[in-house]
Amino acid sequence: METMTSLSSQQPSADANEHQTNAQQRGIVILGATSSIAMAIARLCCQPGSRFVLVGRSEENVSAVARDLLVRGATSCDVIVADLRAREQYDDIVQRSREILVSIDLVLIAHGVLPNQYEIDRDVRATTETFLVNGLSAITLAQMFCIDLADHGGGSLVVLSSVAGDRGRRSIYAYGAAKAALTQFASGLRAAWAQHNVHVMTVKPGPVDTPMTHGKKMPFKTTPEVVAKAVLRGLQRKSSTIYVPKKWRAIMWIVRHIPERIFMKLPF
Ligand SMILES: NC(=O)c1ccc[n+]([C@@H]2O[C@H](COP(=O)([O-])OP(=O)(O)OC[C@H]3O[C@@H](n4cnc5c(N)ncnc54)[C@H](OP(=O)(O)O)[C@@H]3O)[C@@H](O)[C@H]2O)c1
Repeated sequence: METMTSLSSQQPSADANEHQTNAQQRGIVILGATSSIAMAIARLCCQPGSRFVLVGRSEENVSAVARDLLVRGATSCDVIVADLRAREQYDDIVQRSREILVSIDLVLIAHGVLPNQYEIDRDVRATTETFLVNGLSAITLAQMFCIDLADHGGGSLVVLSSVAGDRGRRSIYAYGAAKAALTQFASGLRAAWAQHNVHVMTVKPGPVDTPMTHGKKMPFKTTPEVVAKAVLRGLQRKSSTIYVPKKWRAIMWIVRHIPERIFMKLPF
């Protein structure tokens, strides 16, 4: 981990919107804090009293997110600079987040990359890299934070998975396989740690209009704000798995049940 900066506000904004008043969380850790979806969630959670630890690999970009949240009324935003492929930094990230916030209500795991499958089809290293970022690092950090939450009385852990993890498709199977692993792991975590007062929620968005999908033709693209509202709702209801928008639950049910011999001929 290279750098850590701490910013705080003594003048919380007065214009808290309806979602801000709904937000229950106070101590919030975000991994992949510059993600567009993560930023939308952070803004909805932002209210006087909200304290953030923001983890990302660009100090400049994560600090910009921190300043934005302070303007919106957050009480403090600490920035941890880390490339989340680096396993040796994870202990430090968990420990420092706990030291800074003392009480952690919500951990959001949002980092991810979406490579072009056709470009990496013959590139084994790119496949490994895709799995490392979307799968292994997210899984490892989810487990470590889950244990930390359990050891401190509980809290919520939200993982951003994807509908892409519901079935291996030719156009997105490296990313989809990593998200499938994350989804399955989160399912086990949820069952294993519920008795320790840890609520694990899996979020499966369909395509969202963010830098990750920029320039890609995808059906039914939604916005980060729609995902953020669904996440806040899911947290309030203690949901296990949410599809965003909801119609993706039905769509993916159908996709999962298409016979393999037909599925193999589909172009997506
Ligand atoms: N957009 C979609 O259509 C969609 C659909 C379903 C699920 N999701 C999932 O939602 C999550 C957020 O995606 P998004 O759409 O908000 O994408 P985004 O705006 O492109 O954000 C991706 C984030 O991942 C971070 N990241 C990537 N590799 C990293 C690494 N090695 N170390 C630390 N941070 C790293 C990026 O950091 P930098 O800013 O430094 O690059 C960025 O903050 C991802 O897990 C994605 O798979 C997205």
